[in-house]
Amino acid sequence: MKKVNIPFNKPSLIGNELKYIKEALARGKISGDGFFTKKCQAFIEKKFGVKKALLTTSCTHALELAAILLDLKPGDEIILPSFTFTSTANAFVLRGAIPIFVDIRNDTLNIDENKIEEKITKKTKAIVIVHYAGIACQMDKIMQIAKKHNLYLIEDAAQAIGAKYKNKYLGTIGTIGAYSFHETKNIYCGEGGVILLNDDTYIERAEIIREKGTNRSKFLRGKINKYHWVDIGSSYVMSDQLAAFLYGQLEKTRSINLIRKKLYDTYFNNLLELKNKEYLQLPFIPSYATPNYHTFYIILNSSETREHLRMYLIKKGILAISHYIPLHISPMGKKYGYKKGDLPFTENLSERILRLPLYYSLQKIEQTYILNQIHKFFIL
Ligand SMILES: Cc1ncc(COP(=O)(O)O)c(C=O)c1O
Repeated sequence: MKKVNIPFNKPSLIGNELKYIKEALARGKISGDGFFTKKCQAFIEKKFGVKKALLTTSCTHALELAAILLDLKPGDEIILPSFTFTSTANAFVLRGAIPIFVDIRNDTLNIDENKIEEKITKKTKAIVIVHYAGIACQMDKIMQIAKKHNLYLIEDAAQAIGAKYKNKYLGTIGTIGAYSFHETKNIYCGEGGVILLNDDTYIERAEIIREKGTNRSKFLRGKINKYHWVDIGSSYVMSDQLAAFLYGQLEKTRSINLIRKKLYDTYFNNLLELKNKEYLQLPFIPSYATPNYHTFYIILNSSETREHLRMYLIKKGILAISHYIPLHISPMGKKYGYKKGDLPFTENLSERILRLPLYYSLQKIEQTYILNQIHKFFIL
């Protein structure tokens, strides 16, 4: 088998990441809430239009922080898609909440907004949505349901930095939002995340939970003389070394997304012929969504074709990969009583999706090679 020489993802230096890491060291503070953390948070608040952004150690931790902040308790139910990463569920399951899974739409692969209401019970506390591949959920309808039933709305916008629903940035619309800065995302620092808060009532307590249950943030601002243990909490503060790297990337948000758009459009336009011949389906972007070009996927006609194509590409040195194994039919999902057949579209789609390499440093010649191989697979 040929060695894979086009990986699925490849992190790279894009701006002043290394310069800023040195600068953080020179400033004499590399733990949390230093100079670069403040710069990143201010940048995110201004650019994406959110009252408070707090950097965290990951998006998973931002979601855990949200679950604590909203006082979710054992037996509370949360509504979420099953076609997502474990953290969307785990952050709430850790508080004892019960995941209630909803099927996805067959066009955007986001939670089907028309199937949410039938899952709401007296125990429902929150709707947790995922903007899959950086393409927005149908927010008007989902917000209307959340409002009608008095539910929290949490946006797991792990993949969605820079993407919009109408004129609003994803992650800034619901009660609480979160982005991921894991190396596979558009903007990264290795492992990292941010919690986004628009409601003043949550800001002070979020700072406390993030700082091991102490009011240290207030102390660092010089508002109190000593800090104390005042609440439950954990160690969710990002190191300033990582924030320095992250700031180097945030500054390049525009050029990163332009490059990704170009790669995305090239895939899309070049594969249209195969779509028209009904060999595969391409992503759908509704008119209300401005994507951030996070993921480019194709949907094959069967799981067998997906596996054949995936293996064929590996033989050609290209790593294309599937995506989530639906949470409801994973070992944990089964413990909650779910079984195969409960969410037909999620199950079927998860076996047919294939994500193609898409990253900042992917070269034109490499993308042409990938596209040629896909065409050869179908046409020859
Ligand atoms: C939808 C979704 N939520 C949460 C996460 C977790 O993000 P992190 O790795 O920053 O904890 C991911 C990671 O890929 C994700 O895709």
